[in-house]
Amino acid sequence: MVSRAATRPGRSPSDAGWLFEAYRVADASTVGAGWQRLVLDAPALATRAAPGQFMLVGSAAFSPRASGPDYLKHPFFFASISPEAGQVSIVFDRSAPFAWEMADWATGTEVECIGPLGKGFPVTAEPAAAPLVLIGSGYGVAALAAALAGLHHDRPVALFSVGAPPVSPDPGLLGVTSRITCHVAGTLEQAWREAAEAMPGAEVWAAGPQDFTQEVAGRALGEGRRCLVTVEAPIACGVGACLGCTSAGDGTWRTCREGPVVPAEWLKGVKRP
Ligand code: FES
Repeated sequence: MVSRAATRPGRSPSDAGWLFEAYRVADASTVGAGWQRLVLDAPALATRAAPGQFMLVGSAAFSPRASGPDYLKHPFFFASISPEAGQVSIVFDRSAPFAWEMADWATGTEVECIGPLGKGFPVTAEPAAAPLVLIGSGYGVAALAAALAGLHHDRPVALFSVGAPPVSPDPGLLGVTSRITCHVAGTLEQAWREAAEAMPGAEVWAAGPQDFTQEVAGRALGEGRRCLVTVEAPIACGVGACLGCTSAGDGTWRTCREGPVVPAEWLKGVKRP
């Protein structure tokens, strides 16, 4: 964490749990073709963050004043959380519109962040009886890697990544394969079929682009399975105040507060087979 920046606890109408701090990049490395990981020294954040939550990462390019505070921030899921090391990490797609700036961030770069935000996966909840399938694509693979690392459940778990780099980051480089065998499938259809054979009736946690999670939600609910999904929606304030992130559902819940991890039934337009 950068010492010059004071810790400012959040004071949104509904939450005082987030921090607005500046962090130093401790490491920048590739996690598959087209994907970059940034490890941030963030000791206070690392003790509060949970898998499935996200943080807003500042962009100096949009600062209203050349030397002033950043004000436009991009949302990223936590790819890893280590209270012991006092670090968190995020990954980003190097082809994304904002990545031209982030690609230059290296060890020592300072960046302002807000987090942790939203509700994450129930990694510490009472374990359910059913095995658990994690299925993700794109940024969702990073969110699920953090979920896997944070799981307190003592039940069978498998992770399926849809799309090799550059579609999705490499799960092995995110540390997944040190814990379980990860299956990389070319399509959701293939991943679903392999998951059904390996773990029939499993609970499903899905993370990825909206059309991907909607497809998984429809399949899981159609088979009567419990299913949680992440939501990727436009984020403005990130703290529940602007109501700009309600488009993924029926307008009664906010991606940044009640999400981004929500029951599959909450998604708008979920198709059941
Ligand atoms: S981004 Fe403002 S309420 Fe969610």
